[in-house]
Amino acid sequence: MRISVIGAGYVGLVTAGALASKRHNVIVVDTDETRVSMINRRKSPIFEEGLDDVLSNCVESNRLRATSDYEEILATDVTLICVGTPSNSDGSMDLSHVTESAKAIGRMLGAKSERHTVVVRSTVVPGTTREIVIPALEQHSRKKANVDFGIAVNPEFMQEGKALHCFFNPDRIIVGEDEEGVGDTVEELYEGISAPIIRMGITTAEMIKFTSNAFLATKISFINEIGNICRKLGIDVYDVVRGVGLDYRIGEHFLNAGIGFGGSCLPKDVKALVHSSRHVGYQAQLLESVLEVNKNQILNMLRMVEEKLGNLEGKTICVLGLAFKPNTDDIRNAPALEVIRLLMEKGASVKAYDPLAMPNAKSVLSHKVEYSRDVKEAVSNCDCILILTEWDEFKNESLYYGKLVFDGRRVLDPERARVICDYEGICW
Ligand code: UDX
Repeated sequence: MRISVIGAGYVGLVTAGALASKRHNVIVVDTDETRVSMINRRKSPIFEEGLDDVLSNCVESNRLRATSDYEEILATDVTLICVGTPSNSDGSMDLSHVTESAKAIGRMLGAKSERHTVVVRSTVVPGTTREIVIPALEQHSRKKANVDFGIAVNPEFMQEGKALHCFFNPDRIIVGEDEEGVGDTVEELYEGISAPIIRMGITTAEMIKFTSNAFLATKISFINEIGNICRKLGIDVYDVVRGVGLDYRIGEHFLNAGIGFGGSCLPKDVKALVHSSRHVGYQAQLLESVLEVNKNQILNMLRMVEEKLGNLEGKTICVLGLAFKPNTDDIRNAPALEVIRLLMEKGASVKAYDPLAMPNAKSVLSHKVEYSRDVKEAVSNCDCILILTEWDEFKNESLYYGKLVFDGRRVLDPERARVICDYEGICW
């Protein structure tokens, strides 16, 4: 198939690379010329496991190319909208990139005589495709959706760090269509991938993505709350999870208690769902609490540090881990950023180390943060260590002998750690 993908961010580029390696012909359209030229030089502008190799193979064999020219979508049969949908300051979703790309695609469709299908893959609040994308496409093409061109929704469920694996091994493929048959084109994209394909209306498909992310976030806040109770009772929440996770109705995944969830999706999507619910006259109390519990984990850790060290003015704190999770350089909504901001507000000096995310962190954190060359340098000469991302290299116990350690990610085994250092788990 000839496919165009709008947006060369995490979702767009991984999707484009994955489809090209399935022998489709793919064009990625992005307005950022630097990104475009990097991709065409076979270099991924984002860090994602395996993506450099995929780009290298597919660009070399001419199955993948990047451009900033929307006109090139005319030579394709399907266009996937994969642009970002960040948060506005009030928690609502900023749909401007989706709207702009729908207008640009519409302008192109007006000049095309063959049938074309537009697929929304960006995460958008339920109703967006019907209320914003379709009107923009129709207005700018002067054509009718589901008559002159196809429109479908196909949300992604890819986790950063293993996004290609998630693409090729999905638990399910969701296809939203308002006109029977449009979804066949989406199914063709995934030919050869073994997974249940579920077809439904467009708005339901949009809601499935939100529900998935809201549920994952709820699981994390739930177990963090149980962990906070366990800590007070002297119980290890990880032992509790071993006991409850085997119940097939509960499951063991996404029950790792700790400093809380970050990243570009979970916090933003839960906020957007809360905001949209309010908009339709419903107060999403549970989801509001999910966000509140998540925010409080950071404050809990700060409180624990203050309980041990007293006033933080003039203290030197080592922060291990800046990325929102391991195997990525992504720091969007990473708990470490807020922890560091609060530590500095209290007058502490911060030494930080992350194997991948330091360049990104430098562009957003205070210039007063001191970055260490390696983990050994980071843990030397400090009053305490905070572990905020579970990178493998932080598991080395010998780093922590005789130190005061606050573990926000269950990187160390508490029993062993208590023998070698003054160890505190955030909620165990
Ligand atoms: C998420 C969804 O999982 C994915 O399906 C969607 O398409 C995009 O958003 P991602 O943002 O890559 O993926 O990260 P994920 O692996 O879900 O982790 C999110 C956050 O939750 C991380 O900060 C992680 O450390 C935290 N987390 C995860 C926990 O604190 N405990 C857990 O048990 C699992």
